[in-house]
Amino acid sequence: GIVILDFGSQYNQLIARRIREMEVYSEVIPYNTPLDEILAKEPAGIVLSGGPSSVNAENAHLVDKALFEQNIPVLGICYGMQLTTHLLGGQVKKGVKGEYGKAKLQIDKSNEFLAGVSRFSTVWMSHFDEVQTVPAGFTINATTDVISAISNEEKKIYCVQFHPEVSHTEEGPRMIENFVLKICQAPRNWKLTNYIEKTVAEIKEKVGNEKVILGLSGGVDSSVAAVLVHKAIGDQLTCIFVDTGLLRKDEGRKVMENYGEHFHMKIDMVDASERFLSKLKGVSDPEAKRKVIGNEFVAVFDEESHKFEGAKFLAQGTIYPDVIESQSVKGPSAVIKSHHNVGGLPEEMKMELLEPLRELFKDEVRKVGEELGIPHHLVMRHPFPGPGLGIRILGEVDEEKVKILQEADDIFIEELYKNNLYEQVSQAFVVLLPVKSVGVMGDERTYEYTAVVRSANTIDFMTATFSKFPWEFLETVSNRIINEVRGINRVAYDISSKPPATIEWE
Ligand code: XMP
Repeated sequence: GIVILDFGSQYNQLIARRIREMEVYSEVIPYNTPLDEILAKEPAGIVLSGGPSSVNAENAHLVDKALFEQNIPVLGICYGMQLTTHLLGGQVKKGVKGEYGKAKLQIDKSNEFLAGVSRFSTVWMSHFDEVQTVPAGFTINATTDVISAISNEEKKIYCVQFHPEVSHTEEGPRMIENFVLKICQAPRNWKLTNYIEKTVAEIKEKVGNEKVILGLSGGVDSSVAAVLVHKAIGDQLTCIFVDTGLLRKDEGRKVMENYGEHFHMKIDMVDASERFLSKLKGVSDPEAKRKVIGNEFVAVFDEESHKFEGAKFLAQGTIYPDVIESQSVKGPSAVIKSHHNVGGLPEEMKMELLEPLRELFKDEVRKVGEELGIPHHLVMRHPFPGPGLGIRILGEVDEEKVKILQEADDIFIEELYKNNLYEQVSQAFVVLLPVKSVGVMGDERTYEYTAVVRSANTIDFMTATFSKFPWEFLETVSNRIINEVRGINRVAYDISSKPPATIEWE
């Protein structure tokens, strides 16, 4: 397949996904992976990704120059172009102003990478430094305001300053296809049906006659992992589902129906809502609530798993972006909120991990899920935070507020499905404010809570915009919540984007 060396660009997972969409295997590995390890993968091509570093900086992120002498095609993107230039004897200078956004690309001398691309097209730029002189043996193929595409076709080295993987680069797909299928001639053997067969065989082989437990949350990743493991080893798998009491309305019942009854999986349902609620009494700080919920989850899961003392494996729904993040050179990005992804493993548990989705991107996990027979609406579910409604009830949490919020949230989600809007947005939910305001119902004055309807559109959850719903839709949601949910007499719609707001309210 194609190996992508990760220099920290926010877009590099996108490159891998674009390549996999062509049914070619692609993986993202740290830029400082030793050359022999890279070569051991027998890549058909190597991509040097973008990244925030500067080749002229003291601790610049570099690679072994020998990489260019392996008879393996190389594509340098953004920082990857500057790096190639720098290592092979050209010059990179600090840009005067930097460039961010769309630019017009003009091709003066096409090459195999740009074959079939219009002479003028729009590309996406995001850089500060720029190539000033190209290395010996290289040709300048195209320009924007700066040198934007160079190549040494004899050595099959292609570089671009812009980002062909970003959708704003109009003819990017053709360029990536040129590189992957024509220049590298990479084999097209990345098919998800093969993946299922291969993984089922691997799980069988690895697990043998042993027992496996899995923390099922009802979310996409743990559910697909569960169905996949179940397909391999059937009743040797037991799922543990912890009802924290902070889940969406009827979540536990639905999980039993969807996975217990439909797929005949063994599910150990633990109702721990009282424990969670009593631990949350008097706690109103968001981070403190996260800690309480996270710790309690680990405690419950740990206790419960002792019932399955003989289990040798713990299966988890770890997916490829988690793996890439954990090995990234960027290091842990600034922690704004502590994310305890409930479903995590109590560290002292001595079990072997089984992570059947660790090679897959989210969209691939969804495809695998559908292939396994999980209904479409379940594999398309939005992410749901580990602390659940605990961070969607602002301030102190109690049972009454949970009930009120569950009802309101359920109405909003139901209306999203009914109006075919659910899949148009990335995450949607209702927040309950501990603020009461005056209203009137019939002849009666009411004094009740305020609900906030929140919906965000995002690709990476790092930045997001609020969803621009039709007024009529919001009106329906508001009317239904106020009329059907006792305890709420006012509904507001959150029109903040991230940053500076966050998606959640806590
Ligand atoms: P924010 O609110 O930071 O959320 O914009 C970004 C994404 O992260 C989710 N989120 C969490 N997920 N535990 C989780 O498992 C948490 O404590 C947590 N806090 C936020 C949020 O739902 C959104 O998808």
